[in-house]
Amino acid sequence: MEDVYKAVKVSEHVYWVGAIDWNIRDFHGYTTPRGSTYNAYLVLADKLTLIDTVKAPFINEMLSRISSVIDPGDISYIVSNHSEMDHTGALPGTIERIGPEKVFASTMGASTIKEHFQLEQEIIPVKDRGSISLGNMDLSFIETRMLHWPDSMFTYLEKDRVLFSQDAFGMHLASSQRFDDDLDLAFLEYEAATYYANIILPYSPLVLKLLNKVAGMKLDIDLVAPDHGPMWRKNIGRILGLYSMWAGQKPTKKAVIMYATMWHSTESMAEAIAEGLGSKGISVRLMDVNKSHRSDVAYEVLDAGALVVGSPTLNNNMFPTVADCLTYLKGLRPRNLVGAAFGSYGWSGDALEQVNDALRAMKVELVDEGINVKYVPDADALERCFSLGVKIAERLEKEVG
Ligand code: FEO
Repeated sequence: MEDVYKAVKVSEHVYWVGAIDWNIRDFHGYTTPRGSTYNAYLVLADKLTLIDTVKAPFINEMLSRISSVIDPGDISYIVSNHSEMDHTGALPGTIERIGPEKVFASTMGASTIKEHFQLEQEIIPVKDRGSISLGNMDLSFIETRMLHWPDSMFTYLEKDRVLFSQDAFGMHLASSQRFDDDLDLAFLEYEAATYYANIILPYSPLVLKLLNKVAGMKLDIDLVAPDHGPMWRKNIGRILGLYSMWAGQKPTKKAVIMYATMWHSTESMAEAIAEGLGSKGISVRLMDVNKSHRSDVAYEVLDAGALVVGSPTLNNNMFPTVADCLTYLKGLRPRNLVGAAFGSYGWSGDALEQVNDALRAMKVELVDEGINVKYVPDADALERCFSLGVKIAERLEKEVG
């Protein structure tokens, strides 16, 4: 069976030797309805070099792809750009099976890998902007700390103008196509945005610095080779531009209303707020968090200017699925949002202030104290919700200019 796995040539000296995970549907809390890939790359230099490995259960698929080009035992070097286990899970097994001369990682990566796997193999730290010789060509390294782990780095192969960018510029998409121009660009942009929103967003200020750093290095890049999804060869400028835009987090005339509802009271309020926002030309996404996954909410928040959150009070608390989504979003640290809270209750209305507190903790600028309605909103309460929508819209108008 394993003989069917073949390497794919992606540049003069580089082969893709990764694995396709068609059926993964949850990536530590991020829903992945279209699966993923774990990309590993083989550099055919004097010193045969493997860049990154794959998730542990896919080691045979990776070694099989390598075997379609060379004997894996001939690999001299392994470079690990990122220690997360979807890229290093197969590293200990690979080291054991091929016995490489040397394994390289960033300074942080060297210690992370040792600690994670309690490896006996020495992991040689490489410096930011340092390089190693593979005999007839060099590899150079660019530290990308906290993008998105402390150990993360890029590797650059000048000979073929390939930038191995680990998670950056990637997406969770299983496909039999390996390049951006084999797939629909709008679809790729959606998947890349979803990935950015759910993985990279917390580190947006560092993304801007990194983009400047890479631009300053004036690297010639013909291929961006991430660790997930297709490689970018035709639309490199486009994906770099999108990263710059997403990292900038400029407010837009778009509002996300996320809510949960028990008996449709909070839902009626959400719809009235949406009508108010829409009456002023704001684009609205209304999302019941009992029906929308938290990572789809994160995708919508990525380019929004407002986050409006509704919750009924259940047993003196905000609704559990609202708490789940707010906890997730807080960790992703979206910036430059205005917002408000709303909700309904029976005998204690604690959820409203809890949501307000959660929004404040996310540094969302609240436009007012929010709306709390006992039992079922009447016409007057719905009118107040509509007005809240208008107020948020007017605030967004000012922010966006
Ligand atoms: Fe694809 Fe951060 O691992």
